[in-house]
Amino acid sequence: MTKVLVLYYSSYGHMEQMADAIAEGARGAGAEVDIRRVPETAPADVAKAAGFKPDISHPVIEGIDKLADYDAIIVGSPTRFGRMSSQMASFLDQAGGLWMRGALNGKVGAAFTSTATQHGGQEVTLFSIITNLLHFGLTIVGLDYGFAGQMGVKEVHGNSPYGASTIADGDGSRQPSQVDLDGARYQGRRVAEVATKLAA
Ligand SMILES: Cc1cc2nc3c(=O)[nH]c(=O)nc-3n(C[C@H](O)[C@H](O)[C@H](O)COP(=O)(O)O)c2cc1C
Repeated sequence: MTKVLVLYYSSYGHMEQMADAIAEGARGAGAEVDIRRVPETAPADVAKAAGFKPDISHPVIEGIDKLADYDAIIVGSPTRFGRMSSQMASFLDQAGGLWMRGALNGKVGAAFTSTATQHGGQEVTLFSIITNLLHFGLTIVGLDYGFAGQMGVKEVHGNSPYGASTIADGDGSRQPSQVDLDGARYQGRRVAEVATKLAA
């Protein structure tokens, strides 16, 4: 069975919800899916002062070598100053040994994100993840236009050809909408389908 890892970081829970939707899509395509988050690196007093959600649901990934156990790795990080969070970058920067051994070559990869504002760095953040995954040797799956929900400007919504996304607003009050979550499900399904075909 195709094994998919959904790996994310979330301070306020938006990426947590998107990770669940991505996993739902991948499971719908018959994949076995694990959802893991990367360790928090912000000092506890900083996290508390910034109001980080204390009860993010999924387990922390056991270590960098776990990446080698999957056929596909879908990485989600909220925007931090227009690029992926340091928590995610810090975790991925531990992959030097895996990279040296070529242990991730040929796996399937994808990215998803969240920003406060519509133009606060969605595409650049997705590409900061995608760039990293390309160095790992992953074959990238985006969010193709078969997902028509990424079109239209009548309502605020996330999602782009580069990956599923949501918009949290400056105070974090906007939650992932139906369109945002549908895009995440679609991308999860596509990743699982591609990984299954490549393994055949
Ligand atoms: C230090 C910091 C930097 C941020 N930088 C940006 C930014 O450049 N652009 C933007 O739109 N949002 C920015 N945000 C807002 C986050 O992207 C937003 O809180 C996040 O997408 C919510 O996802 P989460 O609930 O999964 O943490 C920043 C937030 C923090 C704490």
